[in-house]
Amino acid sequence: MAKQSFSKFRRVLLGSAAVLAVAVGPVSAAVQSGSPVAVPAGVSTSTPALMPLPASVSLPAGALPLAGGITIQWDQKPSAMLTRAADRFTQRIDVLAGRILPEQPDAAEAGQVASVPVHIHVGEDPGALTVHAKENYSLQVNAAGVTLTADGPDGVVHGLATLAQLVTRDESGPKLAFAEITDSPRFPWRGIMIDTSRHFMAVATLQRQLDAMEMLKMNVLHLHLSDGTGFRVDSKRLPELTEKSSHGQYYTQRELRDLVSYAADRGIRIVPEFDVPGHALALLLAHPELAAQSPVDPEPKNKNNAALDPTLPDTLHFVRKLFAEMGKLFPDAYFHSGGDEVEPKEWLQNPKIVAYMKKNGFATPQALQATFTAEVQKILADQGKIMVGWDEVSEAPIPKDVVVDVWRSSKFLASASADHHPVIVSAGYYLDLLQPASQHYLVDPYDPAANGITRAQADALLAKGGRPDLVNAFLKEPAPPALTDEQKQYVLGGEAPLWSELVTDEMLDARYWPRAAAIAERFWSAASVRDVNDMYRRLAVVNSELQITGLQAQANTHKMVLRLSPGNAEPVERLASATVPLRNYVMNRYVGHHGNALDEIGEVTSPDPFPAVRFNMLVDRYVAGDHSVVAELKSQMQVWRDNDAAFRQVATVRGLSEAVPTSHNLAVMAGAGLNALNGHKKLSSEEKKIFDQEETLINGSADVSGSFSGTTFPAAGLMIIAEPAIRKLVGL
Ligand code: ACM
Repeated sequence: MAKQSFSKFRRVLLGSAAVLAVAVGPVSAAVQSGSPVAVPAGVSTSTPALMPLPASVSLPAGALPLAGGITIQWDQKPSAMLTRAADRFTQRIDVLAGRILPEQPDAAEAGQVASVPVHIHVGEDPGALTVHAKENYSLQVNAAGVTLTADGPDGVVHGLATLAQLVTRDESGPKLAFAEITDSPRFPWRGIMIDTSRHFMAVATLQRQLDAMEMLKMNVLHLHLSDGTGFRVDSKRLPELTEKSSHGQYYTQRELRDLVSYAADRGIRIVPEFDVPGHALALLLAHPELAAQSPVDPEPKNKNNAALDPTLPDTLHFVRKLFAEMGKLFPDAYFHSGGDEVEPKEWLQNPKIVAYMKKNGFATPQALQATFTAEVQKILADQGKIMVGWDEVSEAPIPKDVVVDVWRSSKFLASASADHHPVIVSAGYYLDLLQPASQHYLVDPYDPAANGITRAQADALLAKGGRPDLVNAFLKEPAPPALTDEQKQYVLGGEAPLWSELVTDEMLDARYWPRAAAIAERFWSAASVRDVNDMYRRLAVVNSELQITGLQAQANTHKMVLRLSPGNAEPVERLASATVPLRNYVMNRYVGHHGNALDEIGEVTSPDPFPAVRFNMLVDRYVAGDHSVVAELKSQMQVWRDNDAAFRQVATVRGLSEAVPTSHNLAVMAGAGLNALNGHKKLSSEEKKIFDQEETLINGSADVSGSFSGTTFPAAGLMIIAEPAIRKLVGL
């Protein structure tokens, strides 16, 4: 490469003490530096935002100019997979650096476009693309160029993803920040789960999620392909499933094989799920003879309830045939067979099943399910697969090598690992609960008390007639003791599921990202990496990188806004910058009550609107005595206050008009916040009432137990998430 002077780039990284703390080495130093000095979101474009935070990172001052892009140089002949990875990241780095035009020939002569050499040394890894893959890598960026070393292809992909996050920019243009990184994941299983049954997701949409996963070093896509609403594969051996239950929306076998290859190229395994014996309506519409309840109601009130009759030999024949065909499409060793939420009535109201239970000594539906689970496990083992099941399968003794996917309460993490089952933790990472990134971020996969409902919430549910067996399953109290080191060895990692009742194809990117990036860090980085403000600072940058490299979250959201308000998106987007959708399935009830349209303002809003996140952070600084933030606080509240008139003008359509009171309340609160910063703290009783109303809404929606029940929803399904911060300013 051309000789260059790097001295002019030295000041790039001197922005904050936090960054300097990172520069001294291991993660703990960065963590101890804490939030007070973290660079707020959006302030610096010259500080790399690494996510997941590497195990060890130092960022010496300096950077390499990127005007000439990068050139990959292999130490040995790379595989086709690695060649494609190198091409993909070379292009991504070009896009991130803004090198989208052809090079200017005269610029080359002027010596300005030398490319950055990226030397890659990669070892052989027979365990590549399995839970035993060698995912570690080391990365050096210095004046001589870039060196990436990995023990296997997965590590190369991860190292290239980190390299892409080192693209920064200052007044002299795009560059690669100097770095010394050694890195490896905390957990080998870092997944997301996509529900293609409730809403079908196009192949291109799935590919975008795989691209984003690669950027965040996630390595498992759990694809939920069969549930009450639809069966989503073109089955050749059971074609009636596709004919009767896909509604014409399914993946061809070719598409799925290509998707598996697309994922494998990115170091991602695809684990399919075909849910049995519950959630079986789609299966039963094609095979009513296997139903626990006949005739099969094609339009039941609850599409989740229909179940297979586990006592029929034909049911197991069907499962064997289905899994044999599907298992070949998905070569991964793991196969998810569901097992969740079997509605006991489906079995107990069938006299033949009851007689069978009596005859064979099954006292409970759980005991009957355990026998079915053991049979399914045998079927899968015969087919060379390792069975994964939701935590219901662990309620009765089953073979030890069944992997338990913990979802109802973290306590099943303790019980399943104590029983020596491998464990995947989904509890705490349900993205369809529409909780903010910060909430998921603080759930540790080893914490058996992290997620579930409290005793008080359970009691409230029981008082309302909740079924004790169901309610107790979600209880997290009394908290089990911390996992022993032996139990921890059974925890493979975690997954972020997103059930798609309220998620259409155009919404999928925005419902996963950027929140899944924060969860990716939880699964990859040290447990001690828990600084929420620093996470949000980096998340804002990473989110932008995801949009730049192909994610459609912001583009699709903007499109949805334009559909509601053609030619004038700003009033809607400004309201969305302070509001969030109702949480914890309250939004599901709102949508059901309001009429199931998924193209309205509630679907446009995000659980983490960055302007409100930033506002909240600045208010905390203000309250802690930092008055340098006053101007920015005022300008944000002026925007929110003054938006009301503009919003009312566009809010003449269904999907926006419902939010007129929300917009009004935001304006009133922002006005009160401005008054407070100008020294007038006294609130009118009307103002106080609005604060209290909005606070009640937030508190009600925070209650996982669903105490916010009935039909008293805010008209637009929105909460003003800036309220708690403004409340601090007005001194309530
Ligand atoms: C589940 O959420 N029913 C696994």
